[in-house]
Amino acid sequence: MFNKICIIGIGLIGGSIARAAREQGVSNYIVAFGRQSGLKNLQTAKDLAVIDNFYIDIEVAVRDADCVIICTPVGVIEQVFKQLQPFWNDNTLYMDAGSTKESVIASAKAVFGKVPANFIPAHPIAGAERSGVAASKADLFKAKRLIITPVKSNSKSLIDKATAFWQKIGAIVSVMDVEHHDAVLAATSHLPHILAFSLVDLLGKKDEKVEIFKYAAGGFKDFTRIASSDPTMWLDICMANKNEIIPLIQQLKVGLGEIEQMLLENQSQQLFETFTYAKQARQRFLNQFDNAMSQTITFNIQPGGSLRGEIRVPGDKSMSHRSIMLGSLAEGVTHVKGFLNAEDALATLAAFRAMGVEIEGPVNGEVTIHGVGKYGLKEPKEALYLGNSGTSMRLLSGLLAGQNFNTVLTGDRSLSSRPMKRVTAPLATMGANIVAETDGTAPLRITGTGELKAIDYLMPMASAQVKSCILLAGMYAEGETTVIEPAPTRDHTERMLNGFGYPVQRNGAKASITSKGKLTATDIDVPSDISSAAFFLVGASIAPDSDVTLKHVGINPTRTGIIDILRLMGANIEVMNKRSVGGEPVADLRVRSSQLKGINIPEELVPLAIDEFPVLFIAAACAEGQTTLTGAKELRVKECDRIQVMADGLKVLGVDAQATEDGMIIQGKIENSIAGGEVDSHDDHRIAMSFSIAGLRATAPITVHDCENVNTSFPEFRELATQLGLNLK
Ligand code: S3P
Repeated sequence: MFNKICIIGIGLIGGSIARAAREQGVSNYIVAFGRQSGLKNLQTAKDLAVIDNFYIDIEVAVRDADCVIICTPVGVIEQVFKQLQPFWNDNTLYMDAGSTKESVIASAKAVFGKVPANFIPAHPIAGAERSGVAASKADLFKAKRLIITPVKSNSKSLIDKATAFWQKIGAIVSVMDVEHHDAVLAATSHLPHILAFSLVDLLGKKDEKVEIFKYAAGGFKDFTRIASSDPTMWLDICMANKNEIIPLIQQLKVGLGEIEQMLLENQSQQLFETFTYAKQARQRFLNQFDNAMSQTITFNIQPGGSLRGEIRVPGDKSMSHRSIMLGSLAEGVTHVKGFLNAEDALATLAAFRAMGVEIEGPVNGEVTIHGVGKYGLKEPKEALYLGNSGTSMRLLSGLLAGQNFNTVLTGDRSLSSRPMKRVTAPLATMGANIVAETDGTAPLRITGTGELKAIDYLMPMASAQVKSCILLAGMYAEGETTVIEPAPTRDHTERMLNGFGYPVQRNGAKASITSKGKLTATDIDVPSDISSAAFFLVGASIAPDSDVTLKHVGINPTRTGIIDILRLMGANIEVMNKRSVGGEPVADLRVRSSQLKGINIPEELVPLAIDEFPVLFIAAACAEGQTTLTGAKELRVKECDRIQVMADGLKVLGVDAQATEDGMIIQGKIENSIAGGEVDSHDDHRIAMSFSIAGLRATAPITVHDCENVNTSFPEFRELATQLGLNLK
């Protein structure tokens, strides 16, 4: 691409550009220019083979260079332009790598009278607290963003050339105008640096400084990492961009003042909302920008082992969602025990808080909801972000269609690609005004008309979410709303509505509701989630010498398909201490190892085990003979396409698995059932946990990538699984 690149200022950034350019074969020859006082540094760069040569005479350094990149602190760029001016070559591409851009433009104008047409300002958003050429590395820019801020006189071909250069060394290039760049960077980089410097300065001056640093845990360390950055460079940047930074400092002062006030006046609800908003906003950014800032969690499972012991898995997800929804609409105070403290249920909880409901907890699974009554919700100030939770979005769309205020429902990447037409279409026939994206996905924009009319709806698919959505809308509709399901699905909505004293008529496949009812607060005891217990029902069945008791599991007959299917396969599951807790059947489940055999899974059991198929496929892989699943097309529109993703992963692990349109055919083996290998969870918690359980019968380690989504339904999975004996790190 170039014959000779000259880097002016060979520190971390300049050195990394040189290394990357060399590695990518972008230039035949790379030299550096520096001052006499920087001779040692230049020599180091040459010794490390970062550059081919260096000069302290700028004329020689830039002679015949077809690309010159200024990598000095922004405060000295004007001086560099002055030195370059006598040797300026119109055929050379000049760029810089400064963190502020208006000041660089001003420096160019001060020296040349205007910005030269062959100078393209650039800013690689990559750096490290370390500085100096010794810290430079060829992959510093890899997959990092780089902003170029072209000026009017730059030609398109030159901008393309600059873009191609930065892309070649690994960067993701964006184009911005200069003012926008400086405003964005002031907020995302300059202000955080000032905060970090200022906090360390404040705490460092306190008498107890030794104590503070000695006990500085993760928070202080994480937050102040960037206070180790080069002070000279940051002095330059802050001075150069102070016009953008000062208003932000003022806004931050106001924000801190508000928090101070909330603390002074014990306004815990407001404080909680502030923190929750921030947490959700951050999560939204992570989801939007491809997890660029997020941690990724990888599970490594050592092969073999048994599961033994007694545990209680967390609360039922479906019931936790519904407890918040109905508790919020009830009159009086509802106490919930056993609430699932995981991202999905918390998304529902946060949505109701945002609609003005005071909710305390969860603390040790206990939540207290100060119900506002059926018509007491308030319009939220922002879009309701529902994360990964399909249940939140589909149930809320029905409930909110009946309000007389407007809402917008958003979700993460996975939720934003799931079909919503199944709820928006019947709601539209009830008179709801909901606008989805053109492909029928979220965001959903709901205009509350307060005027719904009842429908009789024969559902085209067996879905508890669709059924619940329509029943909740029916609470606000004129007339009697009836839903007919093609096969039985979980009935927690109907049961819980009755528990709150709201009449729902059930007659076979039909459930009917009217607006004539009210919800009276009640106490709810959420049993353990059979969908979480399922991982251990399968794990203990397939791992030799296993004996596990799962306490207080919800065994509502619309959820026990997993037990029926495993028993048909020959599993040894005992249902003990059957009892009824708050209108829901509960039991302790004891499961011991057994040799499973392949079966044809009866289609009527599919909706009753709909969330358990990923782990049932693992059971099938370890069973003797063929297992066939049909009638399970719905699996293709869960958090991911669970048929394809499981078939792909199983194949990686050496299992003969054949995806079909509506199910799977798996040839199970007793010996060497599963090989080792690396699989991906594809944004789906149940895929991550299922492949972890596969480790129990694997012949080599299994690595599961992208497991942070386990937090959506079962944050304690790793802890409980290892407690029982799974070797998972
Ligand atoms: C749920 C219903 C099911 C299930 C989901 C929870 C509910 O979804 O997969 O995890 O709480 O109503 P569908 O209704 O789409 O089958």
